[in-house]
Amino acid sequence: SGFVTLDTGYKNTGCTKSAITFLDGEKGILKYRGYGIEELAEKSSFIEVAYLLIYGSLPTADQLKDFQFQISRHTLVHEDMKKFFDGFPSKSHPMGQLCSLVCSLSAFYPESLSPHPTKEEQNLTIIKLLAKMPTIVSWIYKKSLGHPIVYPQNKLDYVSNYLNMTFGQRTEEVEIDPVVVSAMNTLLILHADHEQNCSTSTVRIVGSSECNLYASISAGISALWGPLHGGANQAVIEMLEKIKNDGGDTEKWIAKAKDKNDPFRLMGFGHRVYKNFDPRAKIIKKACDDILDKLGIDDPVLDIAKKLEEVALSDPYFVERKLYPNVDFYSGIIYRALGFPTDMFTVLFALGRLPGWIAQWKEMRENKEPIGRPRQIYIGETDRAFVGIGDR
Ligand code: CMC
Repeated sequence: SGFVTLDTGYKNTGCTKSAITFLDGEKGILKYRGYGIEELAEKSSFIEVAYLLIYGSLPTADQLKDFQFQISRHTLVHEDMKKFFDGFPSKSHPMGQLCSLVCSLSAFYPESLSPHPTKEEQNLTIIKLLAKMPTIVSWIYKKSLGHPIVYPQNKLDYVSNYLNMTFGQRTEEVEIDPVVVSAMNTLLILHADHEQNCSTSTVRIVGSSECNLYASISAGISALWGPLHGGANQAVIEMLEKIKNDGGDTEKWIAKAKDKNDPFRLMGFGHRVYKNFDPRAKIIKKACDDILDKLGIDDPVLDIAKKLEEVALSDPYFVERKLYPNVDFYSGIIYRALGFPTDMFTVLFALGRLPGWIAQWKEMRENKEPIGRPRQIYIGETDRAFVGIGDR
């Protein structure tokens, strides 16, 4: 009943008041809790940013120590969860595994199921999820290789522990290059939140039914998987590889992206909100050059990416539509340089986005927001007489 405004894709519909992330798409500004993304990427660690997003301010040294200590007590996942890893086909997509595994945490940690948890119960679930996610993500990777899993090491910081479980081995200590640790921190910080995007709105809307945190985040992971959202980082590398193998003719592929009869889009380009350079893409592009240089890697797809960007940014189609490279355009090249296979890229996005999803879920619950329930305009048949199956 009443007046319904149609806004497919929610292009102009605000669904919440939020104090977490500020985004100005015209000017290309992104801030978490008032701090510019550039400064956070340069000066802070991912775990500090996670604390900032979830609790609202940067931690003091004691608060950070306590936060890390709490997380370190919950990094193990229930041993029975390993049976899921055994059950998945070895080549199944890591994102399919991730959303199933995160949702199944609710079965192993049922205290999360209370629709009205106390503040302490809610915080415990948040800590457990932050702690267990890197363990799950690294075990998915180990499974894809057929290698034995590596258990968490609580003496390591959050990102180093994740990298050790990923690139380390069970039998020997592996030195993780500080360049890799720093690059990983930067990438995770840049992905940590982005206000009401598709996956975050999903987390909020699922959580608004008073559904538990694990299930809400699992739904967000599913939303992230699509190539128009987080799946774009995988799609970009696949596209660059295709262009390389096709002879590297960037003009030809730009023409395909402009052709309205061709479903091909320039992956890693365009954004619903940014009508200017995505500030994250600026940082990532520079980081990409630095990291490949420091690691001594020469990746031919980086040259193709730069050429594509140059051609697109001087083409009236892209200029008129204000289509710029987004966060996913260069991130995959860095992930590749760090040694990750292409189908793990979106999982890494999820690892980075986790604190943002948690912060948004927590804010929605604390604000006691009503259940999310959009309206529709019905355009189907009205008043049909039922016809028995023999007479249709
Ligand atoms: N290549 C070619 N044309 C494009 C592209 C592109 N990548 N993106 C937008 N357009 C065109 C589109 O065809 C439309 O043209 P016209 O006005 O002639 O119909 C116009 O630009 C506006 O695009 P839209 O699809 O209405 O914009 P949207 O806000 O609904 O979609 C988007 C935003 C990100 C889904 C889209 O730009 C896209 O598909 N980009 C490629 C996928 C991608 O890189 N996604 C990652 C987004 S950033 C990180 C994240 O969210 O996870």
